[in-house]
Amino acid sequence: MVKGGKRLCGEVTVSGAKNAVVAVIPAAILVDGVCVVENVPNIKDVRVIVTILENMGAVAEFTDATTLTIDCRHVQKQTEPDALMRKMRASYYLLGALLGRFHSAKVTMPGGCCFGTRPIDQHIKGFEALGATVRQDSDVIVAEAERLVGTSIYLDTVSVGSTINIMLAAVLAEGVTVIENAAKEPHIVDLANFLNAMGANIKGAGTDAIKIKGVKRLSGGTYSIIPDQIEAGTFMVAAAATGGNVLVKNVIPKHMESISAKLVEIGAKVIEYDDSIRVEGSETLSPVNIKTQPYPGFPTDMQPQIVTLLSVANGISLVREGVWDNRFQYVGELLRMGANIRVDGKTAFVTGVDHLQGAPVRATDLRGGAGMVIAGLMAHGTTEITDVEHIDRGYEDLETKFKQLGADIHREND
Ligand code: EPU
Repeated sequence: MVKGGKRLCGEVTVSGAKNAVVAVIPAAILVDGVCVVENVPNIKDVRVIVTILENMGAVAEFTDATTLTIDCRHVQKQTEPDALMRKMRASYYLLGALLGRFHSAKVTMPGGCCFGTRPIDQHIKGFEALGATVRQDSDVIVAEAERLVGTSIYLDTVSVGSTINIMLAAVLAEGVTVIENAAKEPHIVDLANFLNAMGANIKGAGTDAIKIKGVKRLSGGTYSIIPDQIEAGTFMVAAAATGGNVLVKNVIPKHMESISAKLVEIGAKVIEYDDSIRVEGSETLSPVNIKTQPYPGFPTDMQPQIVTLLSVANGISLVREGVWDNRFQYVGELLRMGANIRVDGKTAFVTGVDHLQGAPVRATDLRGGAGMVIAGLMAHGTTEITDVEHIDRGYEDLETKFKQLGADIHREND
């Protein structure tokens, strides 16, 4: 339940990156030792992936609120996939990790947010190029290899998931694997840094050509997850949306450039420090055009939040989705709140209105849900958001953090 109209002011600290940690935890399967992972966000996707690994024989323990110790030495080769795998997208990283470790993986087709078709052909292409055979029995994918041998793999589309999965499968393979047209997202660099800290030999992560020299063994160590780019962006947009003044702490400003640049175009003041960013909102918001793209472009995972902000800008904004087929499900909810948005294929034409009006709305997906929270903070009156479990998948204590910034927000009993 959100009562709008409060300016957000103060400081907020960003948690560890969801899309990095959900790759790093399965990557621990490849490690012959104990991994200590720091700055782990307390979100549902983490709890699910940890439980899946525990069900496979891993020993995992939170030694404090954000430090996860994980020992996968006694993980068993899967004979049947875990039903929990359907609950999250990142369970498909188990394919690469199990294939890399056991040369055999059996994984249920993943769930996660629904943005139209979410093919995994590039993952499969990568595994096959390394020497695996991959087959799909209804919703179960089975990958098997006698040997995994490095090779050059050109991705037909820039894909975060396949870049990560191929890295996982190639780390212990024989010889050298080169992933060309690789995704460059900060979480890809983070996974490579984690694997290198455990003894892998990966170069070029963060560029479009990643070179992985197979090593015989990874051993344990300590690694700290990067801050969450999208959580930081969500607070930055919320600050601008409420005409507030918020210092967003624990960020890597370089990761925020595309978001900061758009907020400045919209009219907000953005001040970068070493590891924090201050956003000050302005009275009038200018319309802007945005196309979501792979990193370093404007992130698709910030699209609902920025569209929500633009729904009260002074004119017409065009927002084109450049990654997913269909990521505008949440727009129907904004319309209930009085927004004027027309979606035509992959483009949203957002005509700014004077204000949004509180209404009962649904979190259609994780980031759409974050958009609804921002809409509620901006709106006149009260907004009731249902299906907030989507938000809990990827944001740690979102309502507590907003409350600390002065928002009038609370969670009804489940
Ligand atoms: N694609 C293919 N074939 C493939 C894989 C992808 O055609 O084999 C296409 C997809 O259909 C899509 C595009 O390539 O059009 C990009 O997909 P990508 O593989 O990059 O997405 P993903 O790995 O499934 C991750 C994040 C998403 C985020 C996207 C894009 C995780 C767990 N998920 O998904 O995050 O939207 O990258 O940046 O890292 C979120 O956090 O809210 C979220 C949905």
